[in-house]
Parts: sequence; C-alpha cells; structure tokens
Amino acid sequence: MVGAGGMLGQDVEADVSLTRSQLDVTDRDAVRAVITGDDIVINCAAWTDVDGAEEHEDEALRINREGARNVAEAAGAVLYVSTDYVFDGTKREPYVESDPVNPQSAYGRTKLAGERVTAEANPRHYIVRTSWLFGPGGKNFVETMLGLGPEVRVVDDQVGSPTFTGHLADALARLARTEDYGVHHLTASGSCSWFEFAREIFARAGSDTRAEPCTTADFPRPAPRPAYSVLGSERGHRLPSWQEGLDAYLGVRV
Ligand SMILES: NC(=O)c1ccc[n+]([C@@H]2O[C@H](COP(=O)([O-])OP(=O)(O)OC[C@H]3O[C@@H](n4cnc5c(N)ncnc54)[C@H](OP(=O)(O)O)[C@@H]3O)[C@@H](O)[C@H]2O)c1
Repeated sequence: MVGAGGMLGQDVEADVSLTRSQLDVTDRDAVRAVITGDDIVINCAAWTDVDGAEEHEDEALRINREGARNVAEAAGAVLYVSTDYVFDGTKREPYVESDPVNPQSAYGRTKLAGERVTAEANPRHYIVRTSWLFGPGGKNFVETMLGLGPEVRVVDDQVGSPTFTGHLADALARLARTEDYGVHHLTASGSCSWFEFAREIFARAGSDTRAEPCTTADFPRPAPRPAYSVLGSERGHRLPSWQEGLDAYLGVRV
C-alpha cells in the first residue's frame, strides 16, 4: 500500500505499507524500483487539501494523476481511492457507479484524472469512490467538532455519507482479494448533512456543545462542494451505517 501515513492509509492492513517518505509516488523510477507486476497495490496517496487545490491544481495533479499513473503502470493490480467530489451534487438520490461525473472543484478534477489514468494504465484496476472520511489516523470532522464549543454553527445544506475509515479499510482489503475490477462506490449506509452529523457527534460523545444550522453561503470557501453527494452502489456494496461508524470511532479514539 502507498500513502500509508494518511488517515485512511493508517487503517488499511497490507503486507507492505509505505509512507510518503518511504515511497514518493511522483518519483517514477522509485515506484518502478519498489512495485512489481506481482503486487496488488492499494493507492491511498493523494493531495487532499480541497481548498488548496484551487490555487495549486498542477501540484495536486502531479500526485493525484501522475502519481496514480506511476503506481498503476508498475503494479499487477491497483486499487485507487477516489471521491464523491467527482459528482456535481445536483442529483437528489444516491449517485451510482454508472452515473455521469462532473467535478466542480480542482480537487475533484484531479481525482477524476487519477481514476482515468489508473484505468488506462492497468486493466486490473479497482476505482473506489468514498466520502466524508473520519478515523483515528488524521485530523477529521469529529475531532474538529469535539474541540469546539459551547455553540457551533454547521452547514445544513450539504448532504453526504460520513464514512469510518475502519469500515472502509476492511472493505478495501476484501475487494482487493477479488477480481471484481472497475468502479465501486463504498461509503457508510445512510446520509445526513454536516449539521446533522455534528448534532449526532455531540449526542453520542455526551458533549454539551450545541449545534446550530447554517448555510454554505454563510461560510464561503475557495472550493465549491457538492450540495448532495450520497453514493449508492449498483454493485450491491453496503457498509455499516454512519451512526455505527461514529460509535466505532468514538470507541477507539484516544
Ligand atoms: N478524507 C476524506 O474525507 C476523503 C473523502 C473521499 C475520498 N478521499 C480519498 O481517500 C484517500 C485517502 O484520504 P485521506 O483522508 O487518508 O487523506 P490524507 O490523510 O491526506 O492522506 C493522504 C496521504 O498521501 C500522502 N501523500 C501525499 N503525496 C504523496 C506522494 N507524492 N507520495 C506518496 N504519498 C503521498 C500524504 O503524505 P503527507 O501527509 O506526508 O503529505 C498522506 O499521508 C485519498 O485518495 C482521498 O482523495 C478522502
């Protein structure tokens, strides 16, 4: 696995786990020296600064597209982790694997480019789109919320599926043992707005902090986010619910 130092990477179990300092995926020669055609590689390496990508799209592309190509060319099979931000968010029912993509942000464009080069470079590819990750290995929305108080305003007009990295990591490992190649949507079951997620975090963590709903327009950000990016799977994937993910996370966080 590459990108092992990230939030998701820390939860994925693999025979060999390489952080950025051990393998920089943008270094084609280094990738070819380390990854061989016998390897099934889970690619968790990415530029994930969504707002920063608006100003630094070329740098984001270098990792999310060129890095992805290097890994896919060298590996026997490759699993590229992608995002709900490849969709524009105008649908009002879950996006399935065959729905047309239309990224609205630079980050979404670079991740879609990564999907495409991965698929072109290696017929044995799994493109796994997921969303709204939280887990013990990184800075995440749950920790941000629990660090605030006594009252927070949280956007109520973006809806998605908060997904626990522990649940996703298990599903990735299972998928990579199959020959079920192609595009897969893997997110927690159910959906909510960020405000509803925050309210549930405070309730389940026993916090006194009060959440108040607000709109995306109240908190302008450089990168546009889809208003609705719930993913469904026409391939039959089903992870535990986001509430179960939240409970599991609250049980393991330190
Ligand atoms: N977080 C989310 O809500 C979310 C939602 C949907 C999809 N995803 C996707 O899920 C995957 C994992 O995301 P994450 O949340 O775990 O992100 P993350 O915590 O930012 O992890 C990304 C990792 O990639 C590493 N990396 C960056 N450039 C690299 C390079 N050139 N070579 C090797 N490694 C490099 C980073 O290392 P440094 O920290 O040292 O730079 C970091 O350890 C990504 O593909 C992301 O697009 C995430």
